[in-house]
Amino acid sequence: MNLPEDLPKAELHLHIEGTLEPELAFALAARNGVDLPYASAEELRRAYRFDDLQSFLDLYYALMAVLRTADDFAELADAYLARAAAQGVRHAEIFFDPQAHTDRGVPLGTVVEGLAGALERSEERHGVTTQLIMCFLRDRSAESARETLDAARPYLDRIAGVGLDSAEVGHPPAKFREVYEAAGALGLRRVAHAGEEGPPSYVREALDVLGVERIDHGLRAMEDPELVRRLVRDRVPLTLCPLSNVRLRAVDLLEDHPLKAMMDAGLLVTVNSDDPAYFGGYVGDTFHAVREALALTEDDLRRLARNSFEAAFLDHDEDLRAR
Ligand code: HPA
Ligand code: ZN
Repeated sequence: MNLPEDLPKAELHLHIEGTLEPELAFALAARNGVDLPYASAEELRRAYRFDDLQSFLDLYYALMAVLRTADDFAELADAYLARAAAQGVRHAEIFFDPQAHTDRGVPLGTVVEGLAGALERSEERHGVTTQLIMCFLRDRSAESARETLDAARPYLDRIAGVGLDSAEVGHPPAKFREVYEAAGALGLRRVAHAGEEGPPSYVREALDVLGVERIDHGLRAMEDPELVRRLVRDRVPLTLCPLSNVRLRAVDLLEDHPLKAMMDAGLLVTVNSDDPAYFGGYVGDTFHAVREALALTEDDLRRLARNSFEAAFLDHDEDLRAR
């Protein structure tokens, strides 16, 4: 078979800000006159040791200071798409964090123009179709999420859906009931991170209260057999990110990751890279790593690739072409 990194696949859990490689961070810092508290890209890369989600988020948000212009965002997205294409990605549904930029004084229009510009050129340049998903930061208020949705109105032709990310524990999905209702009424697709560090009840809440179509991560659903039965029955996709789970210590070792157990339980799971610049690999690298660590078969890998198209927000014709 092809190498697992070459299998055609869709990437459905990818934070564009998490694709900021140290070298690009330094180049953008120089261009924009931003001081980084690291002597070199190598020194920055050595700082990528995390104890949990929060310790990663602290660095992830701090480094965004280098992203200022629409060109910066376009360059970031184009670099990701080139790397993803080289690892077999044919379709990517890409998260971004508007509040992390608007809070720093970067207008939402600048962010969307930059990202959407790169995404519009992606099919021709890289052979990768794309969609953009705007995430609300769950450790900010529900009002701030609502303001973000309102501010995004002029750009909704370029935004396919909404998501929910950042520090999970203590910020249950129900906090965002109203903004998700409003997003649904605007015809936006809905997804949410749940069950990464938070309990299985957050997964239920994301489904029942927010009406999400996919769960991002969903790892901890495995602690609740009744919930697993529901996810299997309803074919709710879970966008797993095994390298992220190891780096953020949701699991100790890749060998301990429940990916294979989740497949065996009949769950519709996909494999994704989350924040590849920080977690040690893009999605092809991740396929390679889980194959080795979990002794996945060729069939397992093909199934994961197939699942990624089934779980994508693609219509069936596009789905077939992508394969
Ligand atoms: N979890 C929550 N928020 C995030 C993540 C993540 O893995 N990556 C970027 N923002
Ligand atoms: Zn994520």
